[in-house]
Amino acid sequence: MAFIRRRLLTRPALALLDLCCGQGRHLAALSQDGHTLTGIDSSVCLLALAAGAVNSDTRLIHADVRSYCFAQRFDVIICMESSFNFDDSEAPSVMRMLANSLAKDGVLLLHSFNPPYAKHVLPRRTWTELDRVFICEGRSYDNNKLVIIQERFTLLENGCYDRFTSEIAMSMREKRNLSVLAAEAGLDLTEVYGSFEEGELNDEQPELICLFRHAQLPAQ
Ligand SMILES: C[S@@+](CC[C@H](N)C(=O)[O-])C[C@H]1O[C@@H](n2cnc3c(N)ncnc32)[C@H](O)[C@@H]1O
Repeated sequence: MAFIRRRLLTRPALALLDLCCGQGRHLAALSQDGHTLTGIDSSVCLLALAAGAVNSDTRLIHADVRSYCFAQRFDVIICMESSFNFDDSEAPSVMRMLANSLAKDGVLLLHSFNPPYAKHVLPRRTWTELDRVFICEGRSYDNNKLVIIQERFTLLENGCYDRFTSEIAMSMREKRNLSVLAAEAGLDLTEVYGSFEEGELNDEQPELICLFRHAQLPAQ
C-alpha cells in the first residue's frame, strides 16, 4: 500500500479503479485517503466481502471486465495479485479497455507474480503437513501460464482419507509480453520493479510490478 500511495496517489482527490478487486483489500486500505474509489469484480461472494470492508462512498461494480466499458476515466488503475489473468485471445481487448479508461496523465499498475522466479526458483513440488491435512502441490510453467495442481488429503475420524484435487491456472506474462500488449493499446511501460520497495526486477524477485502511461506522441 505504501508503494501505491508513494508512486501513484501523488495528488489529492484522485479517481482510482481497482480492476478485479476481489474482497476489496486494497480499496479498504485506501478508504480513508480521500480519493474516489471504484472496484470491479465478477465474483458476487468476494464483492459481498468487499462491501463489508470498504467505506460507503466506494462504488463496487459486479461485472466481467472482458465485456465492460467504463463511462468515466480514472487517474489510477490498479490490478493486483496476477488478476490480469486473461488468455491471448482476451488480453488485448482488456488492455485496450484499460487504455481507454485511463485519464490523460493517468497511471495503470499491473502487479503479478514474476514468471522467471516461478520458472527457476519455485520448487516443482512441495509437501506440507498440517494438523490432519496433507497437501501435495505441483507446479508447471508453460506458455504464459503457471498451473498449480493441489492434492489435499484430510484424515477423517474413521481413519480413512478424504482426497480433494484442485487445479489453478494463473496468467504469467513476462515484462516484455506485457509491454508489447500495452504498446498495441497505446500505453508505454514507464517503470518496472521487482518489489514494492522499488527493488530492481530480476529472476530472484517474486513480484513483477509494471506502471504504464499513455504513449507520448513523437514531437512534430
Ligand atoms: C487473485 S484474485 C485478486 C483479488 C484482489 N485484486 C486482491 O489483490 O486481493 C483475482 C480476482 O479477479 C477476479 N476476476 C477474475 N476474472 C475476472 C473477470 N473476467 N472480470 C472481473 N473479475 C474477475 C476474481 O473474482 C478475483 O476476485
